[in-house]
Amino acid sequence: MRKLTYFIACSLDGFIGDEQGDASEMMLRFMDEEYLHFLKTEFPETLPSHVRPQLGFDALPNVRFDTVIQGRASYDLALKEGVTSPYAHLREYVASRSLATSPDPNVEIIADDLVGRVRALKAEEGGLDIYLCGGSRLAGELLDEIDELVIKSYPLVYGTGMPMFGTGLDIKEFTLDGVRSFTNGALVRTYTRKR
Ligand SMILES: NC(=O)c1ccc[n+]([C@@H]2O[C@H](COP(=O)([O-])OP(=O)(O)OC[C@H]3O[C@@H](n4cnc5c(N)ncnc54)[C@H](OP(=O)(O)O)[C@@H]3O)[C@@H](O)[C@H]2O)c1
Repeated sequence: MRKLTYFIACSLDGFIGDEQGDASEMMLRFMDEEYLHFLKTEFPETLPSHVRPQLGFDALPNVRFDTVIQGRASYDLALKEGVTSPYAHLREYVASRSLATSPDPNVEIIADDLVGRVRALKAEEGGLDIYLCGGSRLAGELLDEIDELVIKSYPLVYGTGMPMFGTGLDIKEFTLDGVRSFTNGALVRTYTRKR
């Protein structure tokens, strides 16, 4: 069984970006040598294709994930930059009921039965795990399917912003597997869903 892992950057107060979801403040500020080394060795595939060459990630093999799923609003950010396959080194799925056709041969659109499609991906034999990239609304829709959380929290308080899960009250329990701390103040916590 392949895991669905929500690997997400958030503020101390649990927001994944400002009210529009813009996370660039936290993404850029904490990319120092120690933190980049962590990403490079443990999660190199989570950096988008167009950023990888600048940071020396382009030749690195995938370590944790071979598949990514994101919501259409998150995918739109890449499209606006003219990038149609932001994770070309992974199998890419974009959840959308409004995108009639995929803008890229590497990107498959999931319009119907999102949960069923994700369950089928999880049931595939072998391979690496599935990277749930976000955003908030997609994570809310898939909350019950999430097997693992990897929360990169940065020492910033937003006060308000986009929540980690765009859902109503829906309490789920997770077990803490590990905490990594970095000199820049970032914490990376890993949790497994308690079932
Ligand atoms: N901090 C981080 O690490 C991080 C990571 C990723 C994203 N983000 C931020 O998250 C923001 C976007 O989040 P968001 O919550 O607004 O949007 P989102 O979750 O990225 O995308 C929402 C869209 O996904 C589609 N969708 C959702 N559920 C679906 C279902 N059951 N079936 C089919 N399609 C479905 C719909 O697309 P249609 O409208 O086309 O039907 C919906 O409008 C971005 O601003 C981004 O910066 C932050």
